[in-house]
Amino acid sequence: MIVGGSIRVPGDKSLTHRALLFAAMARGRSHLGGALTSLDARSSARVLRQLGAVLSPLREGCLVSVEGRGRLRRPEAVLNCGNSGTTTRLLLGLLAGHRFRATLTGDASLRRRPMRRVTRPLSEMGARFIEHGAGDGLPLTIVGGRLRPLTYEMPVSSAQIKGCLLLAGLSGGVEVAVREPGGRSRDHSERLLRAFGYQVKEDDGWIRFAPTGRIEPFDMQIPGDPSSAAFPVGAAVLAEGGELRISGVGLNPTRTGFLGVLARMGAQVAVEAAAELFQEPVGDLVARPASLHATEVAAGEIPGLIDEIPLLAALATRAAGTTIFRDVGELRVKESDRLALIAENIRSAGGRAEVVGDDLHVEGTTAPPAGRVRTAGDHRLAMAFAVLGTVPGARIRVDDMACAAVSYPGFPRMLRAIKT
Ligand code: S3P
Repeated sequence: MIVGGSIRVPGDKSLTHRALLFAAMARGRSHLGGALTSLDARSSARVLRQLGAVLSPLREGCLVSVEGRGRLRRPEAVLNCGNSGTTTRLLLGLLAGHRFRATLTGDASLRRRPMRRVTRPLSEMGARFIEHGAGDGLPLTIVGGRLRPLTYEMPVSSAQIKGCLLLAGLSGGVEVAVREPGGRSRDHSERLLRAFGYQVKEDDGWIRFAPTGRIEPFDMQIPGDPSSAAFPVGAAVLAEGGELRISGVGLNPTRTGFLGVLARMGAQVAVEAAAELFQEPVGDLVARPASLHATEVAAGEIPGLIDEIPLLAALATRAAGTTIFRDVGELRVKESDRLALIAENIRSAGGRAEVVGDDLHVEGTTAPPAGRVRTAGDHRLAMAFAVLGTVPGARIRVDDMACAAVSYPGFPRMLRAIKT
């Protein structure tokens, strides 16, 4: 395939969830431009409507208006968070400081995902929980109330846990200090809170939030999602010729770890930084074909590229040598058991991959990939293997491409459009 042209990718998923939640907590009307309109974003919008905010429909290319009431209202029905772990965990934080009960559920994948990682620290703060499921997941009822300050060493580096606890500090009006054990996860919550005048200080790995600010209605332009941009970047790297520009992409350094790994593998993606929007750097990526070689991705790098591992692993099957991703156990509790499914699908496409403890080993090959890919409804697996399917001579059949709409509406159309 020869790539060409200039494209935009859908709005950033992490920022869209956060902007919707913050706007719902403001008293008055906020406007979001470039917001993601995918299934996950609609899950956040749907539950926020049930909690008393008035949101315009999430339609591609349209400004989203959110009218918040300063606080959330007690919902009348169960809050269905669909497939979205970010909606669930961030919302639990916000709900913790509200004096009512709310029940959350989700689809079969979300119901299996661990929630005690947030309910434990929220319980320490004073929220109460009733678990309705068999294990650690949804459905779950939260009884919010008066909260105590929290100082907490997180067991895993996770922006969802960190964001949840900071939002509990916000809704409960209490100080929260958290520390991540490994690499730094995405810091969108910290940046947004600072933009609203909250004190978020960092010292010796501790992130210290003080309830000094106030959420006023705001207008925000949301940049393109770097995690979505990674897929067309990957397709351009695998192409036989051409050059692809992806413009207006969020370039927050806690999100762009995949670019460093690609550079080590031999693919220099040019970054043309342009502007800063709401404390978030934004710019263009220009990707070209490259001959790839293997690399080792260290444990400390993982939180900065957690969502890009399916794509990087797919690219690693085309790189000379064995690429190792260290300490990627967190992938077991994503939208699917991504760790097992990445390895399984690489093997069913004729490649070699192995899970060794919590590490993932992927061997490169020059044989064209061919085989059936089982996604278990996981959007990022579908997109990563669809990108692998653009290799000349490839015959990849992805069992469910529709699930890409969880984060990237129009993904198959984009993949066709970048071919010249
Ligand atoms: C997200 C955080 C990440 C990521 C998810 C979105 C967020 O999860 O996988 O797609 O917006 O906070 P963890 O940081 O919990 O690993």
